[in-house]
Amino acid sequence: MIIKQFAFDYTMPGAHMRNFGFEKVLGKELARNFPRVYCAFIQELQSAIDETLGLDTTSWRTLNIYSTMGKIVSRANRRVVLGEPLCRDKEIIYHSQRYTWWFGAMLIFLGQLLPPIFRPIFGIFLVIPLKYHRRVLVRRLRPVFKERLDLLREKEGGSTHSTDEMPPDMITWSTKVALESGKAEAQDPGSLAHQFIESIFPTADTVVTTATNFFSDILSSKSDQAFDDLREEARSMFPPGEPPSLQSIKKLHLADSALRETLRRSPIGIYSLFHEVMPKEGVVTPNGHHLPQGTWISVPSMAIHHDERVYSEPDRYDPYRFTAGTNSTKPKSMLTTMTDEFLGFSLGDHGCPGRIYASYLLKSIIAYTMLNYEFRPLSTRPANRAIGIIYAPPTTAKFSLRRTGAAS
Ligand code: HEM
Repeated sequence: MIIKQFAFDYTMPGAHMRNFGFEKVLGKELARNFPRVYCAFIQELQSAIDETLGLDTTSWRTLNIYSTMGKIVSRANRRVVLGEPLCRDKEIIYHSQRYTWWFGAMLIFLGQLLPPIFRPIFGIFLVIPLKYHRRVLVRRLRPVFKERLDLLREKEGGSTHSTDEMPPDMITWSTKVALESGKAEAQDPGSLAHQFIESIFPTADTVVTTATNFFSDILSSKSDQAFDDLREEARSMFPPGEPPSLQSIKKLHLADSALRETLRRSPIGIYSLFHEVMPKEGVVTPNGHHLPQGTWISVPSMAIHHDERVYSEPDRYDPYRFTAGTNSTKPKSMLTTMTDEFLGFSLGDHGCPGRIYASYLLKSIIAYTMLNYEFRPLSTRPANRAIGIIYAPPTTAKFSLRRTGAAS
């Protein structure tokens, strides 16, 4: 059902058949191995922020929020996904950016704007650039996957494969999970590279969207207290003269709550949990409605997130909402906890497996920027735009900022 809703049958046909357990790569391998790549990740993120936002402490700069977040997130993310030296390979960077752009454009145009009846006519032509960029990426990544597969096979012993001496990146972790899955096509380097690109490359945009929504929310919140508290909290993550530790990200409780509040107010989709009624006789809902076979059903996440029976003053941005009490910075609900009242990462078996990694990325960006930059408030919250079921961030909004000169 989600395949039809987002036109995935055109942008990545047959992807669900190829799935060798990507949830395991993100849920298990990334969680276990992230400490090994953490220092490199933070260094990359800091350089990306320093270069994109600038180091000048004397003058203010005005930048587009969405494209600025795009530059920062994609660079830090590439370090974890591709490792070194591939994350600096100009050809790979170019084609992955073009691939991600076309993927997003097709998600909107083919999946949301074009009536489904026209998809078979236009779909096959419109996805040609997407296929082209994916083909170039597969050609470049195939030998890398082959090498990792061979290395892991060499190490093979019993049912587990050790990746300890291999490059700590998502290519290694995906290869390990693929090998353990035992599926024949998951062990073919070309097919593995293909699925890796389809499953991982487009997801960075959800982080960029959430970061854009966060800055739009916090800068229009008129809460100096929240800024002071976020900055104070960030100091614990970047103690002067010491490298930040992964443990310290987990203590950024206010950033965690403020991000959950952003995702509550502006989830990436207006609906979630899509299903299609499959039984021939249809189904009857608990309140007696008969839904015939083929009906599409989903949960109205946006309406739930803005229901005042669930959240008091639902339209207000309250960065402390998910902390233990007013102005407290202790946690009440964690950003990554999925509940039937918080559907920012969906729910259940198909809930977002990348959410912990996304929370590391987002909280690190917030901590480093709050500590090292001051921002001019926005007079009003830049508006998001509903495109079909997608809740698009304010892509033209700008923020003004200046380096503070605080020790980082
Ligand atoms: C703040 C950032 C993110 C948000 C808000 C988000 C949200 C979501 C949501 C709502 C879904 C469910 C879609 C549906 O089936 O209805 C989902 C699925 C998924 N997400 Fe995320 N996501 C984020 C970041 C990431 C990242 C960084 C990754 C990978 C590194 C990722 C990987 C995935 C994958 C693979 C699925 C498909 C899961 C499945 O179908 O079983 N996500 N995400």
